[in-house]
Amino acid sequence: PGQQLWTGRFSEPTDAFVERFSASVHFDARLALYDIQGSEAHARMLAERGVLTEAERDAILQGLAGIREEVVEGRFPWSPRLEDVHMNIEHRLTERIGEAGKKLHTGRSRNDQIATDVRLFLRDAIDTVRDELARFQHGLLELAEREAETVMPGFTHLQVAQPVTFGHHMLAWQEMLERDRERLADCRRRLNQCPLGAAALAGTSFPIDREATAAALGFDAPTRNSLDSVSDRDFAIEFCAAASLCMTHLSRMAEELVLWASPQFGFIELPDRFCTGSSIMPQKKNPDVAELVRGKAARAQGDLVQLLTLMKGQPLAYNRDNQEDKEPLFDAVDTLRDALTAFADMVPALSVHRDRCREAARAGFATATDLADYLVRQGVAFRDAHEVVGRAVRYAVEAGRDLPELGLEELQQFSPAIGEDVYAVLTLDGSVAARDHVGGTAPAQVRAQAQAARERLA
Ligand code: ARG
Repeated sequence: PGQQLWTGRFSEPTDAFVERFSASVHFDARLALYDIQGSEAHARMLAERGVLTEAERDAILQGLAGIREEVVEGRFPWSPRLEDVHMNIEHRLTERIGEAGKKLHTGRSRNDQIATDVRLFLRDAIDTVRDELARFQHGLLELAEREAETVMPGFTHLQVAQPVTFGHHMLAWQEMLERDRERLADCRRRLNQCPLGAAALAGTSFPIDREATAAALGFDAPTRNSLDSVSDRDFAIEFCAAASLCMTHLSRMAEELVLWASPQFGFIELPDRFCTGSSIMPQKKNPDVAELVRGKAARAQGDLVQLLTLMKGQPLAYNRDNQEDKEPLFDAVDTLRDALTAFADMVPALSVHRDRCREAARAGFATATDLADYLVRQGVAFRDAHEVVGRAVRYAVEAGRDLPELGLEELQQFSPAIGEDVYAVLTLDGSVAARDHVGGTAPAQVRAQAQAARERLA
């Protein structure tokens, strides 16, 4: 005999396979505390409106408090036969308090209940993720200040382009994360409306007070349309889109960390506690954490596509398809949160091989643009200057030397406009210090930007 809450209409119990096929409690039990919170607000509101007596309300609240303890302490008797988190809790409530428990579902449906639970869950999850983002950002700002003077090659096409400071590169990462943090705040703001009262789809004939339940649960307002309330999963999609973009950013950082930690680059040393060894090659120290972050970005992208595809064919209003929204959403939350934790712990703890960074910038004709700019200041048109420096670089490549290593006479073969003062602009430090404007790579700018970013975070 099924323990279901709807046996009245049916002439035979649910098929055993269908029971298993349709159960969701093995994953939606994660929403239990939010479900209880929603039920408490609903019961209080019903009593306020005279739909429940005060005695019934008190019995329900007491029963729910006991259930909360069971959940928190891991003693709650979850049953897959009761399908989902809602029916497990309601069934348990009636077991604990009797008749009054059967009245809790007045003026409510699992459809508005689940829409509320998921929003409450995601609101908390966003707060946690944004805190973790901010922690990582603070770590990057410290690292940026520590390495404000460290010169490294900046790349385009992964070819040495112009010298930049390591600090400036860290601030580029921090900008990506700041946009991610804003996107999540935006998503939170839009999801913070309360679906309770939409009931199954059309609302309810009971004299409910939707403003009261919305306020009690910390929502900004009740949702405006009951059909939309139970069928909308935009907020979950928005979160997954923001999460997937943030994971894409983390994945790009991971890629750079992996490259930089390789002996060929040798720019950084990752702390041993964040690396792993090889079961066969004794010399290996592998950047697995960064690689896993890069790999896990694929999960977040999969979660987003799964949700978009889940929704695209659904007519209004609620369809059971929606039960499939939880696993990808939970996965996106967990994946993003863990990736942020890993990087917030690991990245600020890396050490920079400053000599190697400088060496790599020095070896790559990184100041060729500075030489062209110098010629422009001597009155040469930029296009001509570009040509002149191109020829000088070709000469230096063949001679196996870098530009500052060429003598003055050697340089003057390419342009008589070159004078002794050219060496000042050919140095790496001169090059980065000259880019001293908003958004530029000069150490002074890095320090100013780090300070401004810290104020935005506060
Ligand atoms: N487990 C369901 C879900 O996740 C809860 C709502 C079920 N509603 C229904 N009419 N079967 O969406």
